[in-house]
Amino acid sequence: MAKFDVAVIGAGAAGMMCAATAAQRGLRVVLIDHAAKLAEKIRISGGGRCNFTNVNAGPANFLSENPHFCKSALSRYTPADFVALVKKHRIGYHEKHRGQLFCDDSAEQIIEMLKDECAAGDVHWRMPCKVESLAQADGGFVLETDSGTIEAPSVVIATGGLSIPKIGATDFGYRVAAQFGLRMVEPRPALVPLTFDAQQWAPFVEMSGIALEVDVETGSLKGRNPTGARFREDLLFTHRGLSGPAILQISSYWQPGTPITINLLPELDLAATLIEGKGTIKKQLGNVLSQWLPARLAEGLLLAHGFALDARLADMPDAQLRKLGAAINQWSLTPNGSEGYKKAEVTRGGIDTRELSQQTMMANKIPGLYFIGETVDVTGWLGGYNFQWAWASGVAAGQAV
Ligand code: FDA
Repeated sequence: MAKFDVAVIGAGAAGMMCAATAAQRGLRVVLIDHAAKLAEKIRISGGGRCNFTNVNAGPANFLSENPHFCKSALSRYTPADFVALVKKHRIGYHEKHRGQLFCDDSAEQIIEMLKDECAAGDVHWRMPCKVESLAQADGGFVLETDSGTIEAPSVVIATGGLSIPKIGATDFGYRVAAQFGLRMVEPRPALVPLTFDAQQWAPFVEMSGIALEVDVETGSLKGRNPTGARFREDLLFTHRGLSGPAILQISSYWQPGTPITINLLPELDLAATLIEGKGTIKKQLGNVLSQWLPARLAEGLLLAHGFALDARLADMPDAQLRKLGAAINQWSLTPNGSEGYKKAEVTRGGIDTRELSQQTMMANKIPGLYFIGETVDVTGWLGGYNFQWAWASGVAAGQAV
């Protein structure tokens, strides 16, 4: 039987941050992971350069049944705190787009940094190691693992969500929650490409590869607690549906069975422009539209919405032009699903935040049991927010255990 002050299960972003924080306070910490290779998600993140935080990260950039839950941890460990750590380890970084910070060289540097921080506190590693059972005993916990029994008064669950099972994602955290009677918010793939019925998508298959900046929205944006969201980002047509940052962002808010609405020309009121230009623009409809949209897309959209490419603008009734304007400025379409966990960057939902303390991340009714990172019902936007939550929740638990 090996005795520790803290056992952290899951050596990803949140788990390593938590273990290092607790160990540097002088606690005896063991960090357990079932994978053979350390922190694969950090390694592949941000196209191999890890978008490790976002300088603008705040509670408004996160989805949760309780939007207030993340405030405490995020305010106590900020993007500036993580940047200070990155600088301390002399890792070069740059800002790319809307506050997103990336490594200049490689995501491996973030993994090495977290390993060094764990080493500075003398964290003990068990990896690869399978946790066979977790049980309460004598005011603490006993873990049966395939490399022996571990006893600790505090256990932190940092096993992440369900996305990308190929690199080791499991439902371990959710099973522990069920074992201890903790409520869950139903997990769903998020930051994920959306798909459409083959028949509905047939006119758009040819457009695969086209990218453009759009406004996309879903759900209701009204009231004090809006259920929907709107983003201006790039959209990408694929063979099976839509992807690109705009769609990944909106996918986290999209509810199955409901539509998304895309404005393909967010800077132009198309109907008004066409009606106004009827007297002066002599071109055919296809040529008119391809001033503003990629020609292949303009043609495909006209055909899909039943307009002739060679119709002359001057001959078209205003009602038809208003219909065309709505088809481009408010293109409403209902996905039949998403590409699922094999393509999702994150899982939305997870351990219900009503079960946890927002200061410490400890389960209210199970003293000594903590949940951090993606296991919890806190999901960030695309752009470095999910790592910031992993660091902040990891530090909150690491300071409290
Ligand atoms: P994480 O998934 O990092 O770690 C969980 C750990 O638990 C893993 O090491 C796993 O092996 C281990 N584990 C699982 N089950 C276990 C079990 N049964 N027993 C023992 N160990 C177990 N975010 C961002 O902010 N910027 C970015 O650039 C990107 N890029 C990105 C790209 C891709 C392709 C993906 C899939 C995801 C991203 N993300 C991202 C999201 C980000 O990677 C994610 O939100 C964090 O890694 C979550 O951190 P956690 O520590 O909670 O889980």
